[in-house]
Amino acid sequence: MIQTRSISLSSIIAEIIITINQMLIHSASQLLTLAGKPQSGSQLGQLGIIPNGAVLIRDEKITDVGETDEMAEKYPEEKRLSANNCVVMPGLIDPHTHLVWAGDRAAEFEMRLEGKSYMDIMAAGGGIQSTVNATRSASYSSLFAQSEQHALDMFYQGTTTAEAKSGYGLEISTELKQIEVLLKLNKKGPLEIFPTFLGAHAVPNEYKTRPDIYTNLVCDDMLPALKSWWAKNAHERPLPFVDVFCEKGAFNLPQTRRILESAKQLGFPLKIHADEFENLGGASLAAELDAVSADHLVKTSLKDIKALARSSTIAVSLPCTPFGLAESEYSPAQAMIEAGCVFALASDLNPGTAWCGNMQFTMALACRFMGLTPAQSIAASTINAAAAIGQQENIGSVEPGKQADLIILSVNDYRQIPYRFGNNLVATIIKKGKKYALRNLC
Ligand code: NIG
Ligand code: FE
Repeated sequence: MIQTRSISLSSIIAEIIITINQMLIHSASQLLTLAGKPQSGSQLGQLGIIPNGAVLIRDEKITDVGETDEMAEKYPEEKRLSANNCVVMPGLIDPHTHLVWAGDRAAEFEMRLEGKSYMDIMAAGGGIQSTVNATRSASYSSLFAQSEQHALDMFYQGTTTAEAKSGYGLEISTELKQIEVLLKLNKKGPLEIFPTFLGAHAVPNEYKTRPDIYTNLVCDDMLPALKSWWAKNAHERPLPFVDVFCEKGAFNLPQTRRILESAKQLGFPLKIHADEFENLGGASLAAELDAVSADHLVKTSLKDIKALARSSTIAVSLPCTPFGLAESEYSPAQAMIEAGCVFALASDLNPGTAWCGNMQFTMALACRFMGLTPAQSIAASTINAAAAIGQQENIGSVEPGKQADLIILSVNDYRQIPYRFGNNLVATIIKKGKKYALRNLC
């Protein structure tokens, strides 16, 4: 039986999990299947809606999808869960987060409100470095506890899979401490996590005047150390992504190229933070190196957009970041869609620019500040977001053979999802065949 609960209380999880071996979820007002490949350019927004839809789950997988009456006749014996005339869709996917950190930067938020810029604060030794100091000195258990709370908050807001970065260590042992937290969180669940190594998030204070030496250290020491650590500790999983913050005040284009090329040579899949504040050419570099995604993309030129559109690199926009910084410029999403990019959304959850891991709110911002339609914002947060972490074959749509990651929202029309904001609309989450009931349906 579904119980009514307030969200985000880790202590009650055990009570509300129900393992589903076989289950027919039926009577969805709209089943958004998002069936098919990642959606490029003007194809963005094809939701593949089945009115009065039903989904059959067996163990961790989706095994059939169709209209409720047909499915009820086809599977008369199955245990049932009524969606009660609500929207059922794939679990949301967040392909860019920094969810492992210690401490907070509330004082910097106040400084920004008083007129200091994000990059000024960073240049003065605050910003990322201040979270690095807190993360370096945090014990493993306190870092795990704070990070688990971020992961649970995301999960109960409908995110069933997320990418998450290191980058608050800037020396190998703390970077690995963060990666270890991510792997343990993934193992514990319920949020599934794909880790990224971001040792090139900033030049740490001890190398401030020697950024090229730090770049060498990342290429020659940290990446090989990560690779052997991974072989010992996580060999059954694919290698993590390697990401670089390519920005004035962080890593310039030649340094970024060196790090990404070294990572590529070692077999790591690539990501990049590009064009957040200034255009250094990072998006074109991502396209050239066949990175899985290029992220932020606020100052991206038409030339860079065209390079992304010609490549297999997914264009990931993070609207919580300009919103969090009270800036008015967002990614040129319409130009990206027009050029034929595969456009995805992510939250960028982090303590500096956007302490928000809520993909529902991300979609609400994308519709208002980048002109996405509700359907486009949903495709950008599901099948296209799956592609931004290389997981489009496993998750991101409701299709037979895919992992049973679904959410039921307490609305009966998908347009309500980005239309309403500030409240959690998710009622039930199904992650790999386990049901997490949060509140009553519609
Ligand atoms: O994606 N820009 C670099 N990294 C983060 C911010 C990290 C921080 O300020 O702690 C971002 O916005
Ligand atoms: Fe980021």
